[in-house]
Amino acid sequence: MLWIMRFSGFFSAAMVMIVLSPSLQSFPPAEAIRSSHLDGNLRSPVQTPVADHSRDRFSFRKASAFRNAEECSFGERKILGKTGVCDPSLVHVAITLDVEYLRGSIAAVHSILQHSLCPESIFFHFLVSETNLETLVRSTFPQLKFKVYFFNPEIVRNLISTSVRQALEQPLNYARNYLADLLESCVRRVIYLDSDLVVVDDISKLWTTRLESRTIGAPEYCHANFTKYFTAGFWSDRGLSGTFAGRKPCYFNTGVMVIDLVRWRRYGYTKRIERWMEIQKSDRIYELGSLPPFLLVFAGHVAPIEHRWNQHGLGGDNVRGSCRDLHPGPVSLLHWSGSGKPWLRLDSKQPCPLDALWAPYDLFGHPH
Ligand SMILES: *[C@@H]1O[C@H](CO)[C@@H](O)[C@H](O)[C@H]1NC(C)=O
Repeated sequence: MLWIMRFSGFFSAAMVMIVLSPSLQSFPPAEAIRSSHLDGNLRSPVQTPVADHSRDRFSFRKASAFRNAEECSFGERKILGKTGVCDPSLVHVAITLDVEYLRGSIAAVHSILQHSLCPESIFFHFLVSETNLETLVRSTFPQLKFKVYFFNPEIVRNLISTSVRQALEQPLNYARNYLADLLESCVRRVIYLDSDLVVVDDISKLWTTRLESRTIGAPEYCHANFTKYFTAGFWSDRGLSGTFAGRKPCYFNTGVMVIDLVRWRRYGYTKRIERWMEIQKSDRIYELGSLPPFLLVFAGHVAPIEHRWNQHGLGGDNVRGSCRDLHPGPVSLLHWSGSGKPWLRLDSKQPCPLDALWAPYDLFGHPH
Protein backbone atom coordinates (compact mmCIF):
# COMPACT_ATOMS: atom_id res chain seq x y z
CA MET A 1 0.00 0.00 0.00
CA LEU A 2 2.79 2.33 0.97
CA TRP A 3 4.45 1.54 -2.31
CA ILE A 4 1.33 2.41 -4.22
CA MET A 5 0.94 5.68 -2.35
CA ARG A 6 4.49 6.68 -3.09
CA PHE A 7 4.13 5.72 -6.68
CA SER A 8 0.97 7.67 -6.93
CA GLY A 9 2.93 10.70 -5.68
CA PHE A 10 5.47 10.20 -8.42
CA PHE A 11 2.68 9.85 -10.89
CA SER A 12 0.98 13.06 -9.79
CA ALA A 13 4.29 14.85 -10.22
CA ALA A 14 4.46 13.52 -13.76
CA MET A 15 0.90 14.73 -14.39
CA VAL A 16 1.68 18.19 -13.06
CA MET A 17 4.63 18.35 -15.42
CA ILE A 18 2.50 17.48 -18.39
CA VAL A 19 0.08 20.25 -17.52
CA LEU A 20 2.86 22.79 -16.98
CA SER A 21 5.12 21.89 -19.83
CA PRO A 22 4.21 23.51 -23.15
CA SER A 23 6.46 21.24 -25.18
CA LEU A 24 4.49 18.23 -24.04
CA GLN A 25 1.15 19.57 -25.17
CA SER A 26 1.60 17.90 -28.51
CA PHE A 27 1.31 14.56 -26.76
CA PRO A 28 -0.75 12.19 -28.88
CA PRO A 29 -4.27 11.68 -27.52
CA ALA A 30 -3.52 7.99 -27.07
CA GLU A 31 -1.02 8.90 -24.39
CA ALA A 32 -3.52 11.02 -22.52
CA ILE A 33 -6.07 8.26 -22.60
CA ARG A 34 -3.52 5.80 -21.38
CA SER A 35 -2.54 8.01 -18.46
CA SER A 36 -6.09 8.57 -17.24
CA HIS A 37 -6.52 4.85 -17.51
CA LEU A 38 -3.50 4.43 -15.32
CA ASP A 39 -5.08 6.31 -12.47
CA GLY A 40 -7.81 3.75 -12.07
CA ASN A 41 -5.26 1.02 -12.45
CA LEU A 42 -3.06 1.70 -9.45
CA ARG A 43 -4.13 -1.46 -7.78
CA SER A 44 -1.99 -3.43 -10.20
CA PRO A 45 1.49 -2.13 -9.38
CA VAL A 46 3.19 -4.53 -11.76
CA GLN A 47 1.54 -2.94 -14.75
CA THR A 48 1.69 0.67 -13.73
CA PRO A 49 5.42 1.41 -14.14
CA VAL A 50 5.44 -0.21 -17.57
CA ALA A 51 2.64 2.02 -18.73
CA ASP A 52 4.31 5.06 -17.22
CA HIS A 53 7.78 4.81 -18.71
CA SER A 54 6.87 6.63 -21.90
CA ARG A 55 6.62 9.72 -19.71
CA ASP A 56 9.80 9.17 -17.69
CA ARG A 57 12.12 10.25 -20.45
CA PHE A 58 10.58 13.70 -20.35
CA SER A 59 11.10 13.98 -16.65
CA PHE A 60 14.85 14.53 -16.47
CA ARG A 61 17.02 17.32 -17.76
CA LYS A 62 20.09 16.47 -19.78
CA ALA A 63 23.23 16.54 -17.62
CA SER A 64 26.04 18.79 -18.77
CA ALA A 65 28.79 17.13 -20.79
CA PHE A 66 31.70 15.57 -18.96
CA ARG A 67 35.24 14.91 -20.21
CA ASN A 68 38.27 13.09 -18.94
CA ALA A 69 41.11 15.26 -17.69
CA GLU A 70 44.47 15.11 -19.51
CA GLU A 71 45.93 12.79 -16.87
CA CYS A 72 43.38 10.11 -17.67
CA SER A 73 44.88 9.13 -21.02
CA PHE A 74 48.04 7.81 -19.35
CA GLY A 75 48.21 4.59 -17.41
CA GLU A 76 47.17 1.21 -18.73
CA ARG A 77 44.34 2.37 -20.93
CA LYS A 78 43.76 0.08 -23.95
CA ILE A 79 47.05 -1.73 -23.29
CA LEU A 80 45.43 -5.08 -23.93
CA GLY A 81 43.52 -3.77 -26.90
CA LYS A 82 40.25 -4.39 -25.09
CA THR A 83 37.33 -2.12 -25.72
CA GLY A 84 33.81 -1.80 -24.40
CA VAL A 85 32.94 -3.17 -21.02
CA CYS A 86 36.06 -5.40 -20.95
CA ASP A 87 38.48 -2.47 -21.14
CA PRO A 88 40.64 -3.09 -18.03
CA SER A 89 41.05 0.61 -17.28
CA LEU A 90 37.34 1.09 -16.53
CA VAL A 91 35.81 1.75 -13.14
CA HIS A 92 32.63 -0.33 -12.81
CA VAL A 93 29.63 0.93 -10.87
CA ALA A 94 26.35 -0.97 -10.39
CA ILE A 95 23.12 0.83 -9.44
CA THR A 96 19.49 -0.25 -9.56
CA LEU A 97 16.95 1.76 -11.54
CA ASP A 98 13.68 1.40 -9.71
CA VAL A 99 10.73 3.57 -10.72
CA GLU A 100 10.23 4.66 -7.14
CA TYR A 101 13.88 5.64 -6.62
CA LEU A 102 14.69 6.71 -10.17
CA ARG A 103 15.25 10.32 -9.21
CA GLY A 104 17.77 9.18 -6.62
CA SER A 105 19.61 6.87 -9.04
CA ILE A 106 19.92 9.63 -11.64
CA ALA A 107 21.24 12.05 -8.99
CA ALA A 108 23.75 9.43 -7.82
CA VAL A 109 25.12 8.99 -11.35
CA HIS A 110 25.24 12.75 -11.83
CA SER A 111 27.19 13.20 -8.58
CA ILE A 112 29.72 10.52 -9.53
CA LEU A 113 30.37 12.13 -12.94
CA GLN A 114 30.73 15.60 -11.45
CA HIS A 115 33.39 14.60 -8.96
CA SER A 116 35.45 12.32 -11.20
CA LEU A 117 38.72 13.34 -12.76
CA CYS A 118 38.10 10.65 -15.39
CA PRO A 119 34.32 10.43 -15.81
CA GLU A 120 34.62 8.84 -19.26
CA SER A 121 36.42 5.91 -17.65
CA ILE A 122 33.41 4.91 -15.58
CA PHE A 123 31.11 2.16 -16.80
CA PHE A 124 27.66 1.97 -15.25
CA HIS A 125 25.74 -1.26 -14.86
CA PHE A 126 22.05 -0.54 -14.31
CA LEU A 127 19.80 -3.21 -12.89
CA VAL A 128 16.10 -2.97 -13.76
CA SER A 129 13.18 -5.26 -13.26
CA GLU A 130 10.09 -3.35 -14.22
CA THR A 131 10.71 -1.37 -17.33
CA ASN A 132 13.28 -0.58 -19.94
CA LEU A 133 14.78 2.73 -18.85
CA GLU A 134 17.63 2.73 -21.36
CA THR A 135 16.19 5.62 -23.38
CA LEU A 136 15.84 7.76 -20.30
CA VAL A 137 19.45 7.15 -19.23
CA ARG A 138 20.70 7.82 -22.75
CA SER A 139 18.85 11.12 -23.06
CA THR A 140 19.91 12.29 -19.60
CA PHE A 141 23.58 11.29 -20.00
CA PRO A 142 24.25 11.18 -23.76
CA GLN A 143 27.91 10.10 -23.52
CA LEU A 144 27.55 7.70 -20.64
CA LYS A 145 29.14 4.25 -20.87
CA PHE A 146 26.50 1.91 -19.53
CA LYS A 147 24.53 -1.24 -19.91
CA VAL A 148 21.05 -2.07 -18.62
CA TYR A 149 20.44 -5.54 -17.18
CA PHE A 150 17.07 -7.07 -16.60
CA PHE A 151 16.84 -8.58 -13.15
CA ASN A 152 13.98 -11.04 -13.06
CA PRO A 153 12.02 -10.46 -9.83
CA GLU A 154 10.90 -14.09 -9.94
CA ILE A 155 14.44 -15.09 -8.99
CA VAL A 156 13.89 -13.82 -5.46
CA ARG A 157 10.11 -13.69 -5.15
CA ASN A 158 10.01 -17.22 -3.76
CA LEU A 159 12.89 -16.48 -1.42
CA ILE A 160 11.46 -13.32 0.13
CA SER A 161 9.50 -13.59 3.34
CA THR A 162 7.14 -10.92 4.60
CA SER A 163 8.97 -8.18 6.45
CA VAL A 164 8.08 -5.46 8.88
CA ARG A 165 9.17 -2.87 6.36
CA GLN A 166 7.56 -3.43 3.00
CA ALA A 167 9.93 -1.09 1.20
CA LEU A 168 12.81 -3.40 1.98
CA GLU A 169 11.06 -6.22 0.19
CA GLN A 170 11.21 -4.87 -3.35
CA PRO A 171 12.85 -7.65 -5.37
CA LEU A 172 15.34 -5.20 -6.87
CA ASN A 173 16.82 -4.77 -3.38
CA TYR A 174 18.17 -8.25 -3.77
CA ALA A 175 19.75 -7.66 -7.19
CA ARG A 176 23.11 -6.88 -5.53
CA ASN A 177 23.34 -10.56 -4.69
CA TYR A 178 23.32 -11.45 -8.38
CA LEU A 179 25.90 -9.03 -9.79
CA ALA A 180 28.46 -11.78 -10.29
CA ASP A 181 26.04 -13.66 -12.56
CA LEU A 182 24.54 -10.67 -14.32
CA LEU A 183 27.70 -8.78 -15.26
CA GLU A 184 30.08 -9.97 -17.98
CA SER A 185 32.75 -12.33 -16.70
CA CYS A 186 35.51 -9.90 -17.79
CA VAL A 187 34.26 -7.50 -15.10
CA ARG A 188 36.40 -8.46 -12.13
CA ARG A 189 35.39 -5.83 -9.62
CA VAL A 190 32.36 -3.63 -9.13
CA ILE A 191 31.24 -0.88 -6.78
CA TYR A 192 27.63 -1.44 -5.76
CA LEU A 193 25.73 1.71 -4.74
CA ASP A 194 22.23 2.28 -3.42
CA SER A 195 19.95 4.79 -5.16
CA ASP A 196 19.53 7.16 -2.20
CA LEU A 197 23.03 8.57 -2.08
CA VAL A 198 25.39 11.06 -3.70
CA VAL A 199 29.14 10.76 -4.10
CA VAL A 200 31.06 13.96 -3.36
CA ASP A 201 34.59 12.71 -4.01
CA ASP A 202 36.40 10.97 -6.85
CA ILE A 203 35.00 7.46 -7.01
CA SER A 204 38.31 6.16 -8.37
CA LYS A 205 39.62 6.42 -4.79
CA LEU A 206 36.96 3.98 -3.65
CA TRP A 207 37.63 1.81 -6.68
CA THR A 208 41.31 1.31 -5.80
CA THR A 209 40.53 0.16 -2.24
CA ARG A 210 42.63 -2.82 -1.25
CA LEU A 211 40.44 -5.81 -0.45
CA GLU A 212 43.42 -8.05 0.40
CA SER A 213 41.97 -11.57 0.50
CA ARG A 214 38.40 -10.42 1.16
CA THR A 215 35.52 -10.67 -1.30
CA ILE A 216 33.76 -7.48 -0.29
CA GLY A 217 34.83 -4.17 1.20
CA ALA A 218 32.56 -1.79 3.14
CA PRO A 219 32.76 0.57 6.08
CA GLU A 220 32.28 -1.50 9.26
CA TYR A 221 30.57 -0.39 12.47
CA CYS A 222 31.88 -2.54 15.27
CA HIS A 223 30.27 -0.48 18.03
CA ALA A 224 26.77 -1.19 16.73
CA ASN A 225 24.88 -3.87 18.65
CA PHE A 226 25.14 -6.79 16.25
CA THR A 227 22.75 -8.96 18.29
CA LYS A 228 19.70 -6.98 17.29
CA TYR A 229 19.91 -7.88 13.61
CA PHE A 230 18.82 -11.44 14.39
CA THR A 231 16.06 -12.98 16.45
CA ALA A 232 16.49 -14.58 19.88
CA GLY A 233 15.60 -17.87 18.22
CA PHE A 234 18.56 -17.51 15.89
CA TRP A 235 21.01 -16.83 18.72
CA SER A 236 19.75 -19.70 20.85
CA ASP A 237 20.10 -22.19 18.00
CA ARG A 238 23.78 -23.13 17.98
CA GLY A 239 23.37 -24.78 14.61
CA LEU A 240 22.49 -21.40 13.14
CA SER A 241 24.40 -18.84 15.21
CA GLY A 242 27.45 -21.11 15.10
CA THR A 243 28.01 -19.65 11.64
CA PHE A 244 29.67 -16.69 13.40
CA ALA A 245 32.04 -18.92 15.38
CA GLY A 246 35.62 -17.78 14.93
CA ARG A 247 34.56 -14.43 13.48
CA LYS A 248 34.23 -11.00 14.98
CA PRO A 249 31.09 -9.93 13.15
CA CYS A 250 30.43 -6.21 12.78
CA TYR A 251 27.50 -4.45 11.19
CA PHE A 252 28.07 -2.99 7.74
CA ASN A 253 25.69 -1.26 5.37
CA THR A 254 25.15 -3.06 2.05
CA GLY A 255 24.36 0.20 0.25
CA VAL A 256 28.03 0.81 -0.53
CA MET A 257 30.19 -2.20 -1.30
CA VAL A 258 33.30 -2.87 -3.33
CA ILE A 259 32.95 -6.43 -4.61
CA ASP A 260 35.63 -8.73 -5.97
CA LEU A 261 33.51 -10.57 -8.55
CA VAL A 262 36.19 -13.13 -9.34
CA ARG A 263 36.28 -14.34 -5.75
CA TRP A 264 32.49 -14.08 -5.49
CA ARG A 265 32.04 -16.35 -8.49
CA ARG A 266 34.78 -18.74 -7.36
CA TYR A 267 33.28 -19.27 -3.89
CA GLY A 268 29.63 -19.21 -4.95
CA TYR A 269 28.44 -16.50 -2.58
CA THR A 270 25.15 -16.02 -4.40
CA LYS A 271 24.10 -19.54 -3.41
CA ARG A 272 25.32 -19.06 0.17
CA ILE A 273 23.15 -15.96 0.55
CA GLU A 274 20.19 -17.74 -1.01
CA ARG A 275 20.58 -20.60 1.46
CA TRP A 276 20.13 -18.18 4.37
CA MET A 277 17.10 -16.69 2.67
CA GLU A 278 15.58 -20.16 2.49
CA ILE A 279 16.22 -20.68 6.20
CA GLN A 280 14.60 -17.31 6.90
CA LYS A 281 11.47 -18.40 5.05
CA SER A 282 10.93 -21.33 7.36
CA ASP A 283 12.52 -20.14 10.63
CA ARG A 284 12.32 -16.33 10.60
CA ILE A 285 15.77 -15.58 11.94
CA TYR A 286 15.76 -11.83 11.26
CA GLU A 287 13.35 -8.92 10.75
CA LEU A 288 14.93 -6.85 8.00
CA GLY A 289 15.10 -7.67 4.30
CA SER A 290 18.19 -7.98 2.15
CA LEU A 291 20.81 -6.95 4.73
CA PRO A 292 20.88 -9.88 7.21
CA PRO A 293 21.86 -12.58 4.70
CA PHE A 294 24.84 -10.42 3.76
CA LEU A 295 25.75 -10.08 7.44
CA LEU A 296 25.43 -13.84 7.88
CA VAL A 297 27.81 -14.57 5.03
CA PHE A 298 30.29 -11.70 5.25
CA ALA A 299 30.28 -10.02 8.68
CA GLY A 300 33.74 -10.40 10.18
CA HIS A 301 35.20 -11.11 6.74
CA VAL A 302 34.78 -7.63 5.31
CA ALA A 303 37.68 -5.50 4.12
CA PRO A 304 37.23 -2.27 6.10
CA ILE A 305 36.73 0.90 4.08
CA GLU A 306 36.99 4.40 5.50
CA HIS A 307 33.72 5.62 6.99
CA ARG A 308 33.81 8.71 4.81
CA TRP A 309 32.52 6.43 2.01
CA ASN A 310 29.20 5.78 3.66
CA GLN A 311 27.84 8.59 5.78
CA HIS A 312 24.57 6.73 6.19
CA GLY A 313 21.30 7.25 8.05
CA LEU A 314 20.51 10.68 6.57
CA GLY A 315 16.98 9.50 5.77
CA GLY A 316 16.28 9.59 9.48
CA ASP A 317 14.51 6.90 11.43
CA ASN A 318 10.88 5.93 11.15
CA VAL A 319 9.68 8.94 13.11
CA ARG A 320 8.16 11.30 10.59
CA GLY A 321 10.20 14.43 10.03
CA SER A 322 13.23 13.25 11.98
CA CYS A 323 16.56 14.51 10.66
CA ARG A 324 19.99 13.06 11.25
CA ASP A 325 23.30 14.79 11.31
CA LEU A 326 26.54 13.62 9.74
CA HIS A 327 28.84 11.37 11.70
CA PRO A 328 32.07 13.10 12.71
CA GLY A 329 34.89 12.95 10.19
CA PRO A 330 35.39 13.57 6.47
CA VAL A 331 32.67 12.91 3.89
CA SER A 332 33.04 11.32 0.47
CA LEU A 333 29.54 9.88 0.15
CA LEU A 334 26.20 10.96 1.65
CA HIS A 335 23.63 8.23 2.06
CA TRP A 336 19.96 8.88 2.86
CA SER A 337 19.31 5.42 4.23
CA GLY A 338 16.32 5.25 6.52
CA SER A 339 12.74 6.05 5.76
CA GLY A 340 13.02 9.66 4.55
CA LYS A 341 14.27 10.49 1.06
CA PRO A 342 15.61 13.95 0.17
CA TRP A 343 13.56 14.34 -3.02
CA LEU A 344 10.31 13.64 -1.20
CA ARG A 345 11.15 15.99 1.67
CA LEU A 346 12.29 18.74 -0.70
CA ASP A 347 9.09 18.38 -2.74
CA SER A 348 6.96 18.56 0.38
CA LYS A 349 8.81 21.74 1.44
CA GLN A 350 9.88 20.07 4.68
CA PRO A 351 13.50 19.23 4.00
CA CYS A 352 16.11 18.29 6.55
CA PRO A 353 19.13 20.64 6.56
CA LEU A 354 21.40 18.10 4.83
CA ASP A 355 18.89 17.55 2.01
CA ALA A 356 20.32 20.74 0.53
CA LEU A 357 23.47 18.74 -0.23
CA TRP A 358 21.47 16.35 -2.40
CA ALA A 359 19.56 19.01 -4.35
CA PRO A 360 22.42 20.15 -6.67
CA TYR A 361 22.56 16.69 -8.25
CA ASP A 362 18.83 16.44 -8.92
CA LEU A 363 18.00 16.38 -12.63
CA PHE A 364 14.27 15.82 -12.26
CA GLY A 365 12.09 18.20 -14.22
CA HIS A 366 11.73 19.39 -17.76
CA PRO A 367 14.10 21.99 -19.31
CA HIS A 368 12.53 25.42 -19.66
C1 LIG B 1 22.01 -5.69 22.20
O1 LIG B 1 20.69 -5.99 21.72
C2 LIG B 1 20.11 -7.10 22.38
C3 LIG B 1 18.82 -7.43 21.63
O2 LIG B 1 18.08 -6.28 21.31
C4 LIG B 1 19.91 -6.78 23.84
O3 LIG B 1 19.31 -7.85 24.51
C5 LIG B 1 21.27 -6.47 24.45
O4 LIG B 1 21.12 -6.07 25.79
C6 LIG B 1 22.00 -5.38 23.68
N1 LIG B 1 23.36 -5.25 24.17
C7 LIG B 1 23.90 -4.09 24.49
C8 LIG B 1 25.31 -4.11 24.94
O5 LIG B 1 23.30 -3.04 24.39
